[in-house]
Formats: sequence, structure tokens, C-alpha cells
Amino acid sequence: MSFLKIKGGKALTGSVNVSGSKNSSLCIIAACLLFNGKIVVHNVPDIVDVRIMFDIFKMLKVNYTYLDNTFTYFGDKLISSDCVDECIKRIRGSYYFMGALLGRYKRVLINYPGGCQIGKRPIDYHFMAFESLGASLSFYDDEVLIKVDEFNSCIIEFENQSLGATVNAILASTYAVKTTLINASIEPEVMDLIAFLKGIGVLINVVGNTIVIDGKTEVIKTNYTYKVMYDRIEAGTFIALGLIKGPIFIGNIDYRHLKKVVYDLIKANAKIDIRENMLVVYPSKLESLEIDTFPYPLFPTDLQQIFSPVLAIHGGRIKENIFENRISTALELKKMGAIVETKEREAIYQPSTLTGCYVEGHDLRGSMALLIAGLIANGDTILKGYEFIERGYEDIYNKIRMLGGEIEFVKCK
Ligand code: EPU
Repeated sequence: MSFLKIKGGKALTGSVNVSGSKNSSLCIIAACLLFNGKIVVHNVPDIVDVRIMFDIFKMLKVNYTYLDNTFTYFGDKLISSDCVDECIKRIRGSYYFMGALLGRYKRVLINYPGGCQIGKRPIDYHFMAFESLGASLSFYDDEVLIKVDEFNSCIIEFENQSLGATVNAILASTYAVKTTLINASIEPEVMDLIAFLKGIGVLINVVGNTIVIDGKTEVIKTNYTYKVMYDRIEAGTFIALGLIKGPIFIGNIDYRHLKKVVYDLIKANAKIDIRENMLVVYPSKLESLEIDTFPYPLFPTDLQQIFSPVLAIHGGRIKENIFENRISTALELKKMGAIVETKEREAIYQPSTLTGCYVEGHDLRGSMALLIAGLIANGDTILKGYEFIERGYEDIYNKIRMLGGEIEFVKCK
């Protein structure tokens, strides 16, 4: 078994460049399967979740290369649309193979997806969208068979905004008739996928939370290049570090995707300079920061856990409205000295001092939050479950080391 040993209390200052977006990359990689021309995608982060998407490509015998953050897809036809393999069960993003394969081949047999245990995470909206498009679904213990003879023109209204279901509905609709999505997710990663698809020739319009896909697309570019957007959650992670330790110059970003986060922080007394493609975040004494997670453009659930160590230092309140288990990071912070009370989906922090100890992360953002806590605590922290971090953050330990952080891997028998 191995752990991460984090030396607390070191200065963390300097510049960092944010990598490409995990969640955009996952859907854009799967979306390539819709097309039969060559596609080059830049800025794809080298992280475990992306590597698993490529394992699925290998299993499907897709012809591709991945080098220096550039993914090249050569666009051959698939021999089979059977997507049954252990790697499907390892990540959430594997469910995009449902929409992409159904969209292109009108049939997919696929395992249920895995992913971080941050809540119930049903995929009933995805299935409802496929059914509205005319597909039939047969459920088995470990997999689902989805197939369609002819796609319907349809209006799909989501009960709640779902990033994954919106992406899957778009992918499956690419060659359908006309699909209208109501109360769709407009997270920046969905908009990035839409920009990718529009660039290649798919006809899509977005007005507010309504997305219309005109599936009668005919002109598809055959030699297409796209660059994935930056990872706004990685940017937010360095904002959290900068507020306690900075100044940190966070480059390669477009702060407009983080407007709500930045404005909430500035309102709570954070010193943040907004520059072109960059944020500069200074150590700040925050006053009464209140975080309420909601779909975009409000405060993202993926940053809630990340900011919990900041609240542990300065006090404040978190309400998690999307994924019920995400509040549990507070319990690990308690072991480090955080004064926090949790009630259902809410955590109320009093200002406290964090001290290094043994902590355990159970999901990507929770483990990252504990790494941040270790960096800002007094003394050493031993973190179990650091592997989750590698699912979503590219070269993160080196980026932190470049800022002055001390992290080492410890192996135990
Ligand atoms: N929901 C349903 N039924 C569905 C789908 C969603 O009830 O069929 C509910 C969920 O339970 C949740 C809400 O709708 O309460 C929103 O879930 P959503 O579908 O948007 O989440 P997701 O697609 O499973 C993606 C990201 C998550 C991110 C959420 C919210 C990927 C691979 N995952 O998950 O990213 O937290 O959207 O923005 O893109 C992460 O990066 O750490 C991460 C977990």
C-alpha cells in the first residue's frame, strides 16, 4: 500500500499553467467515434480517466495515437459496437460510448459505468433520452443493450440539469431528425463539446437551457482539429491554495467560466486580480464565505470539497445540493482539527488551525481537498487514497512542487 506524505506549512508561490479539461476531454474523445474522418484534438490531459477512455478505444480496436496531449483519431469504421469490458466499469465518462455508438451505429451493448462514489448517481435521464429518440433498452445484470431502427424527432425535458445525460442525448442525436433538449445542462464542458461538434459540421443551437440538434447534418469535415478548453476545476483548485498560501499566478484560463466563484470570493474579501488569461490569487482573510452548489453558472459542486480546507481556516458554510456524499470531506478535516458541524448536506465551519495527521480520501475532489489541507496544515499529513487525484489532475504533484510544496510517496507493506 502506498501513501502521500505532505509536508505542511511550506510557502506556495509562483506560476502554474492549467491543463486541458478532464470532463470536456472525456466527452470529446467519445464523440470522435461519431465520425469517419481524421480528427486531431489538442490539450487532452494525461490523466488516468483519459487513459481509461483510450483503453476502451483499444478494446474497440479504434485506430488512434496519443502523444504530448494530442489525440489523433483516424476515423475507421468499428468492427463491433459491443463495449463490454472491465475498463467501462472504472470510470463515469465511459457512458459517453452509449450516446456515441448509438448515434453512429444505432446499437450498443455496454456495461454500466463506474466513477467516484459521491452520491447515488443514477443514469435514468440518459435512458429516458434514448427512449425518447426511439431506442429500445434491454437491461442485464452487468450491461445494457440499446438499439434503434429509426430515430424519432423529439422533445426531451430533463427533470434536473444533468451534464452526462445532456452530452449523451446530443451524441445520440447527431444523425437523428430533430431533437430539442429542455432544461439541458449548459456547463462549460457541454458548451465545449457543442463547439467541437459545430466545428465539424453538426447543426446545434443553444438558447438558455434549451439545446436543439438538427440531426440532418450532412457536411462533416474530414480533417478536423480542435483544442479542448482548460480545466476550470483545476484552476479553482489553485485558487483555493492561493487564498491561503499564494500569491499564485494561475495561467492558461478564461476566468469567465469561474465568474461566480471569483465574485463570491471577492465579496468575502479575497484579493484576486483578473488579468488576460490569468488570475492572481493572494493570501486573504476571508469573511463569512457561503458556498451553495448548483449547476452552471452558479457555484460548481466539483469545487465545493476543494474549498472546504479554506473554510476550515476562515470559517463559513457549505451547502451541497448535487451529490449527497460530497459533504463527508468535512469529517476527515475534523481529524486535522477543523471545527465543523455537519447536518445532512450542510457543513458549518468555525475558524480553526489544521494539523497534519493520517487522513483518507474516497473520491477525486475529496482526496484533492485533503492534499490541499495537508499543504496548509502544520506538520506532516499522511494521505491514503491519493490515487483518486491522478484520475483528474495532470502532473499535479510536480505543479505543486514547482510552487514550493513538499510531497513524497511512501510505500508500506
Ligand atoms: N441525475 C439523475 N439521473 C440521471 C443523471 C443525473 O438523477 O440520469 C442527477 C444526479 O444524481 C445529480 C444531478 O442529476 O444529482 C447532476 O448529475 P450529472 O448527471 O450532471 O453528473 P454526471 O454527469 O454524473 C458530471 C461530471 C462530474 C460533475 C457533475 C456535475 C463527468 C464525467 N462527470 O457528472 O464530475 O460533478 O457532472 O457537474 O463529466 C468530477 O470531475 O469530480 C466529477 C464528479
